[in-house]
Amino acid sequence: MSGSREDAPLLSVEGLHVALPTGERSEVDAVRGVDLVIGDGERVGVVGESGSGKSVTGRAIAGLLPTSPRVRVHGSIRFAGTEMVGAPPAAWDEIRRKRVSMIFQDPLTFLNPTMRVGRQVAESIPAGRERGNVARTQAVHRFLEQAGLEQADAIAAKFPHELSGGMRQRVLIAIAIAKLPRLIIADEPTTALDATVQQRVLRTLDATVSELGTSLMLISHDLAVVAGMTDRVYVMYGGRILEEGRTERVLQEPRHPYTQALLRSVRSLTDDGVELYSMPPELRRALAAEVTDAP
Ligand SMILES: Nc1ncnc2c1ncn2[C@@H]1O[C@H](COP(=O)(O)OP(=O)(O)OP(=O)(O)O)[C@@H](O)[C@H]1O
Ligand SMILES: [Mg+2]
Repeated sequence: MSGSREDAPLLSVEGLHVALPTGERSEVDAVRGVDLVIGDGERVGVVGESGSGKSVTGRAIAGLLPTSPRVRVHGSIRFAGTEMVGAPPAAWDEIRRKRVSMIFQDPLTFLNPTMRVGRQVAESIPAGRERGNVARTQAVHRFLEQAGLEQADAIAAKFPHELSGGMRQRVLIAIAIAKLPRLIIADEPTTALDATVQQRVLRTLDATVSELGTSLMLISHDLAVVAGMTDRVYVMYGGRILEEGRTERVLQEPRHPYTQALLRSVRSLTDDGVELYSMPPELRRALAAEVTDAP
């Protein structure tokens, strides 16, 4: 295990493979050799269609894959030079306490339905910070406000089901930032919300991350969402990275035909408000061949 190094990037993933069981005897190679780097304060997008391996990559990085012994992870995931693949659960707990927060698409599966949201935010404040009830309560309000929830004291007293979807997603942002993480992994954080709420929540996430200088890994199936919010983007398909580059460059001059097709889907989406994307069959066949050529 290599030690932590000052000059090592915040996160460095190399040759990541993840196989997950799908039945008693079957498994899927969900991630097939992903290389990815995120620097301090950098914002990185991960895009690609459904099933391309974005969430599994994000979960692997947060140490949140299913715990079955049949889940196999190979390759390297390093935080500031410290290797995490094969690390014991306690080391992962430490990483999640101190470095990485993950925001999921569906807040209700993450929030505790029987606990007031203020307490759920309070519980994610690292031990030793904001000591005493008054300081903690103030901090909770501050995090809720930073996450775009006004009247934080009223919100803090509510249970998750008493809030709208957009508000619940902001509570997740508050919980994520309360840990003062170095990296936030947001997996489709707004997909379940309607378009206007989605924009507002994304703007809040954007502002919060900027204010705190936190690195961001923003996972989304569409390039439009990552366009304004990320410095670099990785395009995934079939468990692989097909293209990587500065977000602007990838949007303006996509090199891979798949990225070009993905971009067309965004345009059709903005033109008529419906997702009409279908990949040309010849491209799908070519990609399938490329992906099965895998070592
Ligand atoms: N817990 C799991 N058990 C078994 N297979 C899984 C599990 N989670 C994901 N998979 C499989 O792994 C592959 C990658 O899935 P993943 O969820 O990472 O896709 P995604 O890019 O996040 O898609 P989406 O845009 O729909 O969220 C898919 O084939 C999926 O069926
Ligand atoms: Mg996903």
